[in-house]
Amino acid sequence: MLAAMARNHLVGLLLGTEEDWPSAFETMMRRLSPTISYEGTDHTFSTERITIEPFDLRAVPRYSLVIDRLAHWYYVPREWLKKVALMNDVYLMNNPFTFQSMEKHAAYAAMIRLGLKVPETWLIPYKKPPDNPRFPYTAAKYNQPFELDRVAEQIGYPLFMKPFDGGAWVGVTRIKDPDELHRRYDESGERLMHLQASVEGFDVFARSLSIGAETMVMRYDPSQPIHGRYQVEHGFLPPETGREVVTIGRLVNAFFLWEFNSCETLVKDGEVFPIDYANACPDVSLTSLHYYFPWAIKSLIKWSMFCAVTDRPMQIEMTMKRYFEVGDRDDLSYEEKLEHYAGLADQHFQSAQYHEFLEKHLPEIDDVMVEYVASDEFDRLLVETVRSTFPPHEHDKFIAHYQGLLSLWVSDQATAPV
Ligand SMILES: Nc1ncnc2c1ncn2[C@@H]1O[C@H](COP(=O)(O)OP(=O)(O)OP(=O)(O)O)[C@@H](O)[C@H]1O
Ligand SMILES: [Mg+2]
Repeated sequence: MLAAMARNHLVGLLLGTEEDWPSAFETMMRRLSPTISYEGTDHTFSTERITIEPFDLRAVPRYSLVIDRLAHWYYVPREWLKKVALMNDVYLMNNPFTFQSMEKHAAYAAMIRLGLKVPETWLIPYKKPPDNPRFPYTAAKYNQPFELDRVAEQIGYPLFMKPFDGGAWVGVTRIKDPDELHRRYDESGERLMHLQASVEGFDVFARSLSIGAETMVMRYDPSQPIHGRYQVEHGFLPPETGREVVTIGRLVNAFFLWEFNSCETLVKDGEVFPIDYANACPDVSLTSLHYYFPWAIKSLIKWSMFCAVTDRPMQIEMTMKRYFEVGDRDDLSYEEKLEHYAGLADQHFQSAQYHEFLEKHLPEIDDVMVEYVASDEFDRLLVETVRSTFPPHEHDKFIAHYQGLLSLWVSDQATAPV
């Protein structure tokens, strides 16, 4: 018999200030260190943090896959990501092309066409126009005067003003009357803004985090400080609504080719309203996700290994038409369209192959994750993370708080695994 071929996959981490999830990811990769025999080749893995330096466009990168947390604000790595996607077929989480060109605005537009219940949304021109010598002439000739109050009246109060791209709640305000509207518009300056109808009195805020083929729906309370927003609560949505929320998240990701993203939906009287679903660098910090942190680390590892070993192609071209063909059909109800989208998303994320791959090649990952989270090694990471996140007088309180949540996760794995 011929000896199996061997292939090592280097997983690159492109990081900013975060230390918690990368350490957990690296440690889990080391603790797992599987050799996966797949189609005659033995696959092994290593990780490396990517450094920023000049690069030759013709240089061949050593990475099979890169998890990017930096390119949404730092353009040196962003251009490097585009080069390695275009020239070297490196698998990227996320696709730098569509996350650069498709922001919240594009996501609203596409999802409206697909029939999702996006609240009434308008784009309004800048308060302070772009600083360009061509602007005065162009504006004088083509800009229509408009009355902000008339737009707001059509949407109705209260409404939200928020940047057309944006993130981290920057520049987002809830506006209750015309006075406030004008004040906020004046403050918006050079930022291009949406006005969006507020979903008032919603029953549940569901935030889903998607990593490759997996989606976790969590109850979210935006009124809490960041460490208290994700609620540890299971079964907070009826199963059908839960499926609807999952499908919406997966649809957005499959449509835009995003693989590491979060999606916010408001559930009111059984209806699901998506309000925000383009987050190129979703929050996966230990202090935000706490109980759900092990799930995120596991999912990142599973998806990375699946993509690397099976040589899943890094898709650059969007296939919008397949989705619009469903969305444009008048003979389908909202529910029927969602069913089609769920199928398209499963196809895009190779859901069946992914789960088969995990069963066959990574059956130990759940146990290894539990062992790690229960270990002193994880506890040290938790303590360091709390110390670098909170002021000294809160350390003891928060260390105990997070230790409690993570040991709850460990004990839940025996009965209700997440
Ligand atoms: N249409 C809406 N109806 C009700 N609440 C809304 C609406 N739009 C935004 N909000 C509230 O404002 C918050 C911030 O809005 P949004 O998520 O669109 O901005 P963001 O900058 O992406 O914030 P983040 O990064 O925290 O997700 C939401 O989490 C929600 O609490
Ligand atoms: Mg948001």
